[in-house]
Amino acid sequence: MIKVLMVCLGNICRSPLAHGILESKLDNNLFKVDSAGTSNYHTDKLPDKRSIAVARKNGLDITNQRARQFMVEDFETFDYIYVMDKSNFEHVVKMARNVKDISKIKLILNEIKPNQDLEVPDPYYDGDSGFNAVFKMLDKACNVIAIRLKKGNFLLH
Ligand code: 4NP
Repeated sequence: MIKVLMVCLGNICRSPLAHGILESKLDNNLFKVDSAGTSNYHTDKLPDKRSIAVARKNGLDITNQRARQFMVEDFETFDYIYVMDKSNFEHVVKMARNVKDISKIKLILNEIKPNQDLEVPDPYYDGDSGFNAVFKMLDKACNVIAIRLKKGNFLLH
């Protein structure tokens, strides 16, 4: 089974959306998707109400998710670790133990805009429009990720 982890700061806004979106595009008998935050600010909390709402508007229920902090053991469990922004990237890279761990970490928007190092903006202090924009960009990125995962040609990228 291929395992993918989505990571942001709080694990209540962006990564729960990425988690729910990618999971909905894959056969869950073949692929496991999870999410985590680099902080412990919201451990055990539901996703933010605005993430739950934009997911629901797009046909996804993410209310089974609870926030948890990223841990070094995640490098053992997961094959791909997608981070939302550069701050997440630096945090996770600092926890890596070796080059294999580092090779698993990718900025998620580089899957649709290669090498541009674009960030998924943190919508926490925004209104609903920020959450809609985040949903759209994550949906695009997850379409590309799901196609590549299903083809099994990730190693070519
Ligand atoms: P997330 O958004 O990293 O997309 O879950 C945030 C949620 C909470 C906070 C920051 C970002 N916070 O500072 O509490």
